[in-house]
Amino acid sequence: LRSEDIFRLLVETIKDYAIFVLDPEGHIASWNAGAERIKGYTTDEIIGKHFSVFYPPQTAASGWPAHELKVAAAEGRFEDEDWRVRKDGSQFWASVVITALREHDGSLRGFAEITRDLSLRRRAEQALRETEERYRLLVEGVKDGIFLLDPSGYVVTWNAGAERIIGYKPAEIIGQHFAKFYPEEATRRNSPAHELEVAAQTGQFEDENWRVRKDGSKFWSSVMITALPDAKGKLYGFSKITRDMTQRRELEEGLRELSGRLVRVQDEERRRIARELHESLSQELSAMKMMLESTLLQGNLAPATKDCLDEALQLGDRVLQGVRSLSCLLHPPLLDDAGLVPALQWYVDGVSKRSNITVNLEIRPPKFPRLASEIETSIFRIVQEALTNVYRHSGSKSADVLVEQNAGRVCVRIRDYGKGIPPDVQRKLSAAVGVGIGGMRERTRQCGGELSLSNGEPGTVLEAWFPAKPENRVSRRIKGVRLDTAKLAVNPSQNCHWTGG
Ligand SMILES: Nc1ncnc2c1ncn2[C@@H]1O[C@H](COP(=O)(O)OP(=O)(O)OP(=O)(O)O)[C@@H](O)[C@H]1O
Ligand SMILES: [Mg+2]
Repeated sequence: LRSEDIFRLLVETIKDYAIFVLDPEGHIASWNAGAERIKGYTTDEIIGKHFSVFYPPQTAASGWPAHELKVAAAEGRFEDEDWRVRKDGSQFWASVVITALREHDGSLRGFAEITRDLSLRRRAEQALRETEERYRLLVEGVKDGIFLLDPSGYVVTWNAGAERIIGYKPAEIIGQHFAKFYPEEATRRNSPAHELEVAAQTGQFEDENWRVRKDGSKFWSSVMITALPDAKGKLYGFSKITRDMTQRRELEEGLRELSGRLVRVQDEERRRIARELHESLSQELSAMKMMLESTLLQGNLAPATKDCLDEALQLGDRVLQGVRSLSCLLHPPLLDDAGLVPALQWYVDGVSKRSNITVNLEIRPPKFPRLASEIETSIFRIVQEALTNVYRHSGSKSADVLVEQNAGRVCVRIRDYGKGIPPDVQRKLSAAVGVGIGGMRERTRQCGGELSLSNGEPGTVLEAWFPAKPENRVSRRIKGVRLDTAKLAVNPSQNCHWTGG
């Protein structure tokens, strides 16, 4: 083969490019396989036709094809990207190069045109642009602050949400270090650098904490920092999502406070009802019993009347017992007057008897001091709630109650050996409100302490500690009885009652 033949073969068989020759007026003189594939005409159909058939009608009518040839003739070549038309009328995005072909003497022989179909590339580019635009709209549209940091923590992008939450305009903050958003003490603790380090090492850092706005005010923020590795795995930077949770935090605090108020109101109400039951109802019942007894002692009663009075007297006894027992469970007078330890002993004995759960109560040191009344009440109620939970939910046959004072703290621990709190319930309990565990937690918090739940393996351990504030009560008198000196008795039927006075 001569080199000319090789060259002809090459051009004819190339499929990815339409390669053809035009005469000086623009009529097609040769046509390769690629041109047939891309434009859809066979060689026989197209030879001799004017190349303006490849242009959209409007472009062709405007004289553009002739202009392209003129430029190619004048400058040697013409290059463009534009729409072209296939034989079937469909359009494609084409890259076109037209080169002038001249004889040795400089006279114009015609033009070589090479066309490539770039539709696929154009579609991909357009899709990418659309995706980028969608992401931009998404990032701009969300209320959360979303921005990028470079690997050292300097702000690279800044969305409208970040401006809304933190207050800086993009021009004010891009290029600045993100430590600007941290309170001074956090910067001193080196938190910003630490957070980036954690994100770089583990992929992500998540936190809820205080951050600072442009105007210096603080807001409670939920933060997520995500490391962004590039295609080669090298750290490209970080994305940071910031959410203003101040309102939610305030709501949660309000709810917790409400929980605390709820248990305090419940305490007061129980105390009031207990006192009412004890002071009026049981006194009146005692008076009624005395009247019945003195009537019975008169002796000259008909047997039927005597039987009836006897029965009424027994009934009065039972009602009195019931009222006293109810009063004591609502608020044991022991708690106010003899203190936490006797009240707990009485309560724990009652639970052991009533429920078939063996409760071991341990007090350290055995000679336990009196504490501030709100702390004694809180500890008593926590033991009461926790043992009620053990009875209702754990299935345990025994429980240990430990109350310990040391180093300025009082700790109460209630442990059972039952089935434990299911993890999903335990997760919800951390934010629970109400009078159960949520109420206990808030009660503890408001006394300056803390409550925690843990897995006892087996069973559940509920632990609360309080600052050991000393006793602050003044002695009170009820119906002439000095309660702090009155003897208190616990009788075998677990009803405590007043003696003496
Ligand atoms: N000792 C325990 N063993 C197993 N599960 C427990 C125990 N204590 C609590 N739970 C679980 O935790 C949940 C929440 O307890 P919480 O005391 O807050 O509410 P409650 O007992 O259901 O209702 P209440 O408000 O009357 O106390 C219970 O419903 C139970 O599923
Ligand atoms: Mg409960």
